[in-house]
Amino acid sequence: MRPAIRELVRESDLTVRDLVYPMFVNQNVRAPKPIASMPGVSAYPFDDIGKEARSVSEMGVPAILLFGIPKAKDERGSGAWAEDGITQRAIREIKAASEVLVIADLCLCEYTDHGHCGVLHGDTVDNDSTLELYGLTAISQAEAGADIIAPSGMMDGQVKVIRESLDDAGFENVPIMSYSAKYASAFYGPFRDAAESAPRSGDRRTHQMDPGNSREAIREMRMDAEEGADILMIKPALPYLDVIREARQSFDLPIAAYNVSGEYAMIKAAAAKGWIDHDRAMMESLLSIKRAGADIIITYFAREAAGLLEARP
Ligand code: PBG
Repeated sequence: MRPAIRELVRESDLTVRDLVYPMFVNQNVRAPKPIASMPGVSAYPFDDIGKEARSVSEMGVPAILLFGIPKAKDERGSGAWAEDGITQRAIREIKAASEVLVIADLCLCEYTDHGHCGVLHGDTVDNDSTLELYGLTAISQAEAGADIIAPSGMMDGQVKVIRESLDDAGFENVPIMSYSAKYASAFYGPFRDAAESAPRSGDRRTHQMDPGNSREAIREMRMDAEEGADILMIKPALPYLDVIREARQSFDLPIAAYNVSGEYAMIKAAAAKGWIDHDRAMMESLLSIKRAGADIIITYFAREAAGLLEARP
């Protein structure tokens, strides 16, 4: 087939406007700190975050997903909702420096000294007392200027509480992108190094989903939609393309997919060994996520993919 005809009949196409770049701002570093298991990704000091976000925006990437790593951690993760917390300060800095949309990740695991996503009661995370803190955190992020709030802790009822908290504080127009179908996955390993958020004991299987279940994912997404989520997210992406497709067919809300740290690390590692073609594997992965039905792709490849998409005629 002639290339022009192939383009004419192509069903799915990737554009830079589909991409969201995750960024880490780390209060404990003075210079960009490369993440060993995620080649090309660094955690930035506060002083660099504005300029880095601007460079992402200048490549045409419309949004970043922001994670803050605080200096001090405590039992309740109080840094998460501090007015001068690292995330809040970084949001203000980025909004002042660029046009990029800031999606604030909302979880306590980066802020608790035990590394769990909420308040512990004995060995387990206490759902209801955690919700209250998520509400406070959402308001403080919106006050700082976050454009979208993205709760990732997977507590039951989190979307409802966050929606109500935002509305009561006058942030009716700030949308919620919910990590609705978040699987208990081996592919988050490198992220936990980057976010310094590995649980000190136990794991997250009590509140993250079993990889064997897809109907449950639809149920979780339906609940989030009913609680007021504006965007539904599935995470990870590549091992769950069927779930993305199913979600696309079941809901009319925008669907986001998170191409997570381990998915990124695999391609980087194999390419470094010369075993696969990096750029082709990257673009094929991202396109497959789009083809499955995602409107939004959150990916550490966003910068590199933007460069290639830009270069294309
Ligand atoms: C929790 C959170 C995690 C990721 C995003 N938000 C880690 C987890 O659930 O353990 C993982 C993202 C990735 O692997 O790239 N705050």
